[in-house]
Amino acid sequence: MSLFVKKSISQLLADAAESEKTLKRTLTASSLIALGVGAIIGAGLFVRTAAAAAQHAGPSVTIGFIIASIGCALAGLCYAELSSSIPIAGSAYTYSYATMGELVAWIIGWDLILEYAVGAATVGIAWSEYLNNLLVEVIHVSPIPYEWCHSPFQQSLDGTQHGVINLPALFIVSVLTLLLIKGTQESALVNGIIVIVKVSIVILIIVIGWQFINPVNHTPYIPEATTYTDHQGITYDYGGIMGILGAAGVVFFAFIGFDAVSTTAQEAINPKRDMPIGILGSLVICTILYVLFSHVLTGVATVEDFRTTGREASVAFAINKYMIGYAWLAQYVTVAILFGFSSVILVMLLGQSRVFYAMSADGLMPKMFSDLHPKFKTPYKANLLILVLVGLFAAFIPGDIVGDMTSIGTLFAFMLVCAAVIILRRTNPELPRQFKTPWVPFVPILGILVCGAMIFGLGWINWLRLIVWLAIGFVIYFGYSKKHSLLQKGILVDPKDPPAPKIEE
Ligand code: ALA
Repeated sequence: MSLFVKKSISQLLADAAESEKTLKRTLTASSLIALGVGAIIGAGLFVRTAAAAAQHAGPSVTIGFIIASIGCALAGLCYAELSSSIPIAGSAYTYSYATMGELVAWIIGWDLILEYAVGAATVGIAWSEYLNNLLVEVIHVSPIPYEWCHSPFQQSLDGTQHGVINLPALFIVSVLTLLLIKGTQESALVNGIIVIVKVSIVILIIVIGWQFINPVNHTPYIPEATTYTDHQGITYDYGGIMGILGAAGVVFFAFIGFDAVSTTAQEAINPKRDMPIGILGSLVICTILYVLFSHVLTGVATVEDFRTTGREASVAFAINKYMIGYAWLAQYVTVAILFGFSSVILVMLLGQSRVFYAMSADGLMPKMFSDLHPKFKTPYKANLLILVLVGLFAAFIPGDIVGDMTSIGTLFAFMLVCAAVIILRRTNPELPRQFKTPWVPFVPILGILVCGAMIFGLGWINWLRLIVWLAIGFVIYFGYSKKHSLLQKGILVDPKDPPAPKIEE
């Protein structure tokens, strides 16, 4: 059968109605916004911002944030239309199955692993940095030895120490997987509390830090175009337009997660009304906070700080060094960040398990990944497989690499989502849409262009990583998924009890 075989929309909607009996519907509009903000504010802001300033753009990282937010808003408008017309688990994966066919759906589903699983690993690594900061600055004990909290591909600034495994990162993703298996409702409640703490520290840093901005650090605001080579010999385009685009690609990570809301459509009480509110509401709140925060951070500390001693746990470093009298703020930030990062990891792991759940119900992944826990009603086998995947990345790959892989994979998925809106308008004009993307095709096309510009800014090494990742995905699709696809076999999907895939000898 064709690589472009499509799920019918009516079948998707029937699946959604049927699956109400499986996943519990517990999420309201406000809990969706909380889920969104919980997923959004995290390592992107508190770790990647300083990296983007150091490696790419200096103070003009704020412009990078604005570009990234424009890309997200455009893609978010497309996500909102799709999630309000096809309210079923699986996010961009499911939408593309109905609009662009199975192969593209597979590519997106495979790509979303970069967004959610590799993204969760990135935040786990950032958590590890702040755990060390907690030990040294708050509890006043020795830090975890360098080799046990860094990847084998990392070495210390003076070149004397080398990483072996990042144990704290592995620890936190394991604990959160267990929490997730216990159930969405409890996780959403914990998440609500953390969101309040997280937003409060961002606001505190903006308000208190504003008076410590040193105008010298903001001059010139856009550094002259040049290159920067770090202590491990990696060279980046620094300054100018390329610097800003590179920074936009890096801090784009800080916006990832608003679309995770759309993966929980099957658990929303009123998905048609609440999904667009959840997606766009959380995006708007975060954009305002980010631009102000990055302006303050790059005004308080220097780019040189972020390249050297302030390379890790940069926000706490900047407060301790420059905001005299506010040591308590650095301590509060460190504790709050540890909780805040945990909520981000939780939502990313949740998003990933929902994507696997949907792919497995379609036969593209083994059936066991859509098995629900008899008591907690969560896809616990998928959660455990994801833990293995996320754990490997968290333990053995440096944060810079997994962070940029997350960004590029997500940007690529966003481009495909924008294209899906244009296609669905043509192929299914009659489909009831609770929310309509304005000015189609202008908005989706602009979304594709802005996301494409950020991919361009991330540089060839990241393009190469994306290509290799997609190539692995193709091998699995043609080796397993295409043969087991229930749609290819002409079997209608019943997500409650998908028939066991036929094992071919
Ligand atoms: N946006 C999330 C973060 O910054 C992924 O941690």
